[in-house]
Amino acid sequence: MARIVLGVGGGVAAYKSALLLRALTERGHDVRVVPTASALRFVGAATFEALSGNPVATEVWDDVPEVAHVRIGQTADLVLVNPATADLLARAAAGRADDLLTATLLTAHCPVVFVPAMHTEMWLHPATQDNVATLRRRGAVVLPPAVGRLTGPDSGPGRLPEPADVAALAEVVLTAGAPALRQDLAGRRVVISAGGTREPLDPVRFLGNRSSGMQGWALARVAAARGAEVVLVAANVEAPAPFGVRVVPVGSAEELRTAVHTEAAVADVVVMAAAVADFRPGTVAASKLKKGSAGEPTSVDLVRNADVLVELVAARRTGQRVVGFAAETGDAEGDVLTHARAKLARKGVDLLVVNDVSAGQVFGRADNEVTVLAADGTVTPVPAGRKDVVAAGIWDALAADPAG
Ligand code: CTP
Repeated sequence: MARIVLGVGGGVAAYKSALLLRALTERGHDVRVVPTASALRFVGAATFEALSGNPVATEVWDDVPEVAHVRIGQTADLVLVNPATADLLARAAAGRADDLLTATLLTAHCPVVFVPAMHTEMWLHPATQDNVATLRRRGAVVLPPAVGRLTGPDSGPGRLPEPADVAALAEVVLTAGAPALRQDLAGRRVVISAGGTREPLDPVRFLGNRSSGMQGWALARVAAARGAEVVLVAANVEAPAPFGVRVVPVGSAEELRTAVHTEAAVADVVVMAAAVADFRPGTVAASKLKKGSAGEPTSVDLVRNADVLVELVAARRTGQRVVGFAAETGDAEGDVLTHARAKLARKGVDLLVVNDVSAGQVFGRADNEVTVLAADGTVTPVPAGRKDVVAAGIWDALAADPAG
């Protein structure tokens, strides 16, 4: 449980802060909402008070005996400003203290995350871009805005990311600190495959696997937050796209193969987190297989699918990094790391993210624990944690790899 200050700026996207507040309290956090006066023109204080269970104040003149303008910042574990308007970013960059939220920003010792939302022109204006650069230089996280529908008929960069994405990224900063969302992937193109492929048997049946796709989703979300342009080749995952990420839906291993190769042709980093079927049925029935029919099958013939990861390594462009995943168990022939090292060498990847599945399944769980192996033999353990926090650890390992 952490103490979070949720600062709310005065933009129409303020209505989404009520849902974010809900997501944060459901994760067990104690949230104190500090809206600006204009935020309260969009959402009433009663909404924030009821959802947080804490009083709401906007001015330094409220709760004077509590010295709230100092105390709230001093005691916070995270200050999350959602939405951060152009005006709020300007006041924060200038070090103003003309309301309770900006005073709190000046007294906070903890990480600060700004989630901007504004019209595209305001976001792209050099004044705003300078303010963002200033805040980032001082160690604050300023998330890149999502691209999409804005108020009225307009659309472009400036949209507030969805509450689920912001809550997940807030958890990353709470656990791993503001550097976990630094802009080290800005300008990089990243392709991530995620989910599990389905190999058709007939028009209604398939051979599949239990991969939920959530580790790949987390990698995409954190890469986008770190500034990358991200494409997610998603095999049978229903979840909404993380903000800032383009999703290419695929079904079978063959469809995934085509999509990944197309996207990898222009990518700086390719991460194969998907569980790709090694085999597919040799024949796919044109109509539904029926019991008792003349053609009732008694067995399934399998043919080998192409190993997409090996193909990616063979086609790797200069400077491109290829990252594989491996689920391993120890056995009589060696422990998990021995098997993983052999797989890294066999596949020729730059990095291998290794899941030790000896103790049970990781599929569908919120937590994960991995070890990252680099081609030069470096072993980086990423501690157990939520998949978004683990994702930040994986991107850190990639950034630390001297071959990169
Ligand atoms: N992979 C792939 N194409 C396949 C199968 C797997 O690109 N047809 C990728 C996965 O996305 C993952 C890695 O290869 O990044 C997993 O390696 P793999 O050798 O398939 O793992 P296992 O199936 O566990 O292999 P083995 O049974 O040989 O241990």
